[in-house]
Amino acid sequence: MSRSLSPVFKLASLSRQQISSPSSLAALRRAPTSLRMSSTAATAAAPQAQSNYKIVEKVENFEKTQASRPDFNHSAPIEVTKSPDPKWQYGDGVNDQNASLNKTHRQIDPYAPDRATVHNYRLLISGVAPRPVGFLSTVSGDGKTKNLSPFSYFQVIDHDPPMFIVGFSSRPGRVKDTYRNLKETGECVINTVSEKMIEAVNASSIDAPYGVSEWDVSGLHEAPSSTVKASRVQESVFSVEGKVVDIKEFEDHVQPGMSIASLVLIKATRFWVQEDAVNEEGSHIDLEKLRPLGQLGGMSYGRVSSTFELPRKRWQDDQPNSELLTRLEASKPE
Ligand SMILES: Cc1cc2nc3c(=O)[nH]c(=O)nc-3n(C[C@H](O)[C@H](O)[C@H](O)COP(=O)(O)O)c2cc1C
Repeated sequence: MSRSLSPVFKLASLSRQQISSPSSLAALRRAPTSLRMSSTAATAAAPQAQSNYKIVEKVENFEKTQASRPDFNHSAPIEVTKSPDPKWQYGDGVNDQNASLNKTHRQIDPYAPDRATVHNYRLLISGVAPRPVGFLSTVSGDGKTKNLSPFSYFQVIDHDPPMFIVGFSSRPGRVKDTYRNLKETGECVINTVSEKMIEAVNASSIDAPYGVSEWDVSGLHEAPSSTVKASRVQESVFSVEGKVVDIKEFEDHVQPGMSIASLVLIKATRFWVQEDAVNEEGSHIDLEKLRPLGQLGGMSYGRVSSTFELPRKRWQDDQPNSELLTRLEASKPE
């Protein structure tokens, strides 16, 4: 069956200059309403979709569980240790090789008809961990509504140019407000999340009605930006202003009553770094000041309490001293 490409998909074939031009952002905004928000049919199916939606569920007795745990140690230092196997040599594999080789693996089809979507969600977030949290500040197209929400389907993907991706999951009813704002304005600020911010950040993920500002919900503070309308988060050690350069919507996976899932590619236009956390030349952020968190499986987060260093390898340095590398080089196909 042939289907004409939506303006969003057509963007993929535009050049870099075209993509960041105002006219191509206008093309983004002209994407069909059915893709921007739920259609009438989708809205009608939303109650069923809502009752099937298991991604965010009420947790019983969490206060009791929390009370049984030790306090968070705010002043715990970050220790630096040796790497896991400092004697590792080329070809060594892992140091528990026999144990690893005796493990068996289960094959899972993510699209199996009897497999619940929530199982893919739980498997992926527990298996791809830790994930950094991008805390996105956006403004609606009419400039009236401000939004602040966390996303851990998030990553920096290059430094030249500095580029980021953010993944928006489907949910019952309307698309995520952040995504809607990104489509309407093509702008955002990506803020980093430090330990001290996490309760406020988590609160900002609440499914607030469109128009309610998570700045108020979280109690975090706005600071001015230079190249975009959205504010940056004053409490963040590092913030990146950015513009949307591409969007990919996963139209083939839309379920009745659910919004569309999508991926947004963002190019940085400005960096902001907390003055006492960055070196003179603006090239390194102090981990002790950043105190980053990673999102893990379930509702867990991990902090960085221990690090180690590992220099990157260069063939020209290591091959002359390695029998294995020398042999591999000599036996490679012409
Ligand atoms: C730490 C954390 C990470 C999250 N990561 C994502 C994500 O990567 N993608 C997504 O669609 N939702 C993610 N969420 C859920 C959104 O933050 C949540 O749906 C929020 O209500 C969206 O807000 P918005 O509609 O105002 O944009 C995450 C929530 C938390 C607490």
